[in-house]
Amino acid sequence: MSSKNTYILGIESSCDDTAASVLCNGKVLSNVIANQAVHQKYGGVVPELASRAHQQNIVPVVDQAIKQAGISLTDLHAVAFTQGPGLMGSLLVGTSFAKSLAYGLHVPLIDVNHMQAHILAHFIEKDGYEKPDFPFLAMTISGGHTQIVRVDNHFEMTVIGETIDDAVGEAFDKSGKILGLGYPAGPEIDKRAKLGNPKAFKFTKPKVAGLNFSFSGLKTAILYFIQKQLKENPQFIEENLNDICASIQYTIVGILMDKLKVAVKETGVNRIAIGGGVSANSGIRAALKQAENQYGWNTFVPAFEFTTDNAAMIAIVGYLKYLEKNYADQTIMATARLKL
Ligand code: KG4
Ligand code: ZN
Repeated sequence: MSSKNTYILGIESSCDDTAASVLCNGKVLSNVIANQAVHQKYGGVVPELASRAHQQNIVPVVDQAIKQAGISLTDLHAVAFTQGPGLMGSLLVGTSFAKSLAYGLHVPLIDVNHMQAHILAHFIEKDGYEKPDFPFLAMTISGGHTQIVRVDNHFEMTVIGETIDDAVGEAFDKSGKILGLGYPAGPEIDKRAKLGNPKAFKFTKPKVAGLNFSFSGLKTAILYFIQKQLKENPQFIEENLNDICASIQYTIVGILMDKLKVAVKETGVNRIAIGGGVSANSGIRAALKQAENQYGWNTFVPAFEFTTDNAAMIAIVGYLKYLEKNYADQTIMATARLKL
């Protein structure tokens, strides 16, 4: 194998997906994800079950990532892992595994911030995908986070707005729960929204100062609305499901776009990248495309496989830090509330 090639293994275990990926010079050779079906019947992630499932999955997932990449463990130049933020029991599994592997292979260990990884996923080499120039604004929208971040270079990031309560993914998932949809409900709401009328029902947008978000009021408004309608028509949900989903999605996308407009105005930066599970949403993707035409923004939307939690995004941060020899040592610890 040519010595020019740099192989990085990324390991992600912050929530309910066990994932491993191998990158060669920033290009994906393998991207393996084991989803944990065990949480579906509880309507949300159960931390103890997630941790146990990570323990069962981690060895086969890493093994598969190495095999699919067509390399052997000894070809690796570094092992990168998610240090946080996330669920402690979940993070511990990936962290301990990565530490042992790096130690055993005598290669550098590299700690990665999960939220930074959602942003730097845009730097994975992929045909047809352009990388944003600096500075740009990143909106990270997932099940655990909602932030607007000013990105001045790979490692200089400033949070300029964030949610004061629920994350946007939770707004999708909790609304879905009210409607009797499975967990996580985001993808199902998205699918149904495409078939419904976004203006069928109107939900009030929260009023939050500056660049911060709030989603808990919306969830309550949806709950009361549905309860009221069900009193009059017990079949209300079944008869209007697509319209309800379209209206919820329209409202949420509107909230996100309103804040982005303020952020562009305040910073003078009109390069916008999105990341995190909710960036898979067709409504936000369409709204950003429209903003390109309407306001002249330059928008960056990740490939689908890099939107929800994955290890390729961990490995790309690993690669960028490897190039700067920015390594961790064996005393590093998983950190549930790691800041950006
Ligand atoms: O980034 P992610 O996989 O995990 C976290 O770090 O939270 O995001 C998961 C979230 C879930 O709330 C899920 O419902 C949401 O992303 N999601 C979507 C879509 N695909 C995933 N929300 C709306 N539309 C989608 N297409
Ligand atoms: Zn995530």
